[in-house]
Amino acid sequence: AARPESRRDLDGVRLLITAGGTREPLDPVRFIGNRSSGRQGAALAQAAASRGAHVTLIAAHVEVTLPEGVAVVSVETTAQLAEAVEQHAPESDAIIMAAAVADYRPAAVSNAKIKKETVGDTLTLELVKNPDILAGVAARAAANQIVVGFAAETAETDEALLELGRAKIARKGCDFLVVNRVGWNEGFATQRNAVTVLDRAGSIVIEAQGSKLSVADEILSVLAERLLADRH
Ligand code: CTP
Ligand code: CA
Repeated sequence: AARPESRRDLDGVRLLITAGGTREPLDPVRFIGNRSSGRQGAALAQAAASRGAHVTLIAAHVEVTLPEGVAVVSVETTAQLAEAVEQHAPESDAIIMAAAVADYRPAAVSNAKIKKETVGDTLTLELVKNPDILAGVAARAAANQIVVGFAAETAETDEALLELGRAKIARKGCDFLVVNRVGWNEGFATQRNAVTVLDRAGSIVIEAQGSKLSVADEILSVLAERLLADRH
């Protein structure tokens, strides 16, 4: 579908978007990261700004140029992302958690470079679970705030993918969940995307596929519709 450039249905809406992959340092030169490119989050920010939203983009590691006209907050670790979200969430009408957040971080960070000579032939890392930022934001959200999560899943069938998505939105307590299939060649670091958006009840709101920008526009239309409904 063509992109109606004149659409201003998010005029004045304050939108907080997270994008990219968090990185957890092991020592001054190494980290644990993930394959997120930040493309879908950056596309959401760009599309939202062009529809009139005031966008704050909390960017973890991204491999794309970030759009003009949005306020960017750069972070590296999950703890930094959590702090930035906590700071900006209260002044947002909607929060979209598109970032790929590291589930675990090293239990200890070494201030000196880890040396093979000291470690030996095998290295075992102890990791501890990070707090769930999305679940926290959803639990603290005001009645008129909309919280959107993303779910990256590897699933064999569409039905299995939906089941994982339904279980996840129930766990997270957010308003919408954008479910996308990831794999060695799907989802991450690609130009295109195919997503299913679920609501709290686990029902399919929309299915969208195409460029990450067109998918962003379709996700934002779900948001715009809900914001409009809440106003009446
Ligand atoms: N998320 C988060 N904080 C975390 C982990 C994930 O806020 N510590 C958010 C992501 O930004 C995304 C959503 O939760 O919006 C789902 O992320 P995902 O990795 O799919 O789900 P998890 O709950 O981490 O479950 P798992 O990775 O085990 O499937
Ligand atoms: Ca995860």
